[in-house]
Amino acid sequence: MAIILGIETSCDETAVALYCGNRGLIAHEVYSQIELHREYGGVVPELASRDHIKKITPLVDAAISEADIEFSDLTAVAYTAGPGLAGALMVGAGYACSLAMALNIPLIPIHHLEAHVVVANIDNKEQEFPYLALLVSGGHTQILLASEFGKYDLLGDTLDDAIGEAFDKSAKIMGLPYPGGREIAQIATFGDPKSFHLPRPMLGRPGCDFSFSGLKTAVANAWYNSDKSEKVRCDIAASFQEAVIDSCIDRLSNALKITKCKNVVIAGGVAANVKLRERLSCLAQQHDLNVHFPRLDYCTDNGAMVAFTGYKKYLSGHRPQQYIMQVNPRWKLVDCRT
Ligand code: KG4
Ligand code: ZN
Repeated sequence: MAIILGIETSCDETAVALYCGNRGLIAHEVYSQIELHREYGGVVPELASRDHIKKITPLVDAAISEADIEFSDLTAVAYTAGPGLAGALMVGAGYACSLAMALNIPLIPIHHLEAHVVVANIDNKEQEFPYLALLVSGGHTQILLASEFGKYDLLGDTLDDAIGEAFDKSAKIMGLPYPGGREIAQIATFGDPKSFHLPRPMLGRPGCDFSFSGLKTAVANAWYNSDKSEKVRCDIAASFQEAVIDSCIDRLSNALKITKCKNVVIAGGVAANVKLRERLSCLAQQHDLNVHFPRLDYCTDNGAMVAFTGYKKYLSGHRPQQYIMQVNPRWKLVDCRT
């Protein structure tokens, strides 16, 4: 049975996993660089690449021993080829390419966003096509229509900041540590979401596009004009989170109306947000939708999503035997065909 090694190094997580056709996920290793970048309030690309170089070999070795297999048992190597930070991607690509070449097995480049979407099916019954994917991460905010595996049409995108970026920047404004998404979600549980009247970007507008920069500015104004107390921080966090979620629900509702689709997948780091999951579950009940969420640890960047997507590509006959260190930091998902 095929065993696929998946390698993810597109940003600030060095992540490795092994997916086996009949046993499922047999190893899952994630090393987060959050502590390394925290003092800078965001990811420093050169530091990220250097740290991936240090961690990639021990992590792959750990995954191989966790699964109790040999390198010679591998069927193919899948790696994130983009989008992401060029230097960081090159580390994963270099390692994957060398290993696949040494073992004379296929080398499968994976689109990071496709992997975020596809991993929603790893523990679930496969989501039926066509489905809508609400992709909410640190670098992207998109609504896609997946008509078959590897075929995606972009219905909506952000006009400015990505959703995770809005979380992170709003957190930074209020003095919360990087990355701020989880921090905002945590303190929002102590705040009143109705206390600050923040704008709902794009609400009621036709189409499925997003915009978050105005909301971020509203957070800055609310914070700088406040007494900056702990209570205010929690209230602004809760109000911000509610505004972001209202906007997501409105945009997704438009996509559902336009496509008449009943199947939805939620993906990306912000899909770990518990309030967003709750509200989407309510929407699913109201409109009789079939919604798949990835497990919480498969929402933020991980190797399981790369190994699983690589496995699915391998099964669909995608077995390139060329050893080219291919990366594309600005790879568009719509250009991604199996
Ligand atoms: O998908 P991801 O790990 O990396 C990218 O591909 O961008 O997403 C990271 C983003 C960060 O902006 C982080 O703050 C956000 O996901 N995030 C959250 C939560 N957990 C992570 N945002 C809101 N609520 C959360 N619980
Ligand atoms: Zn990601």
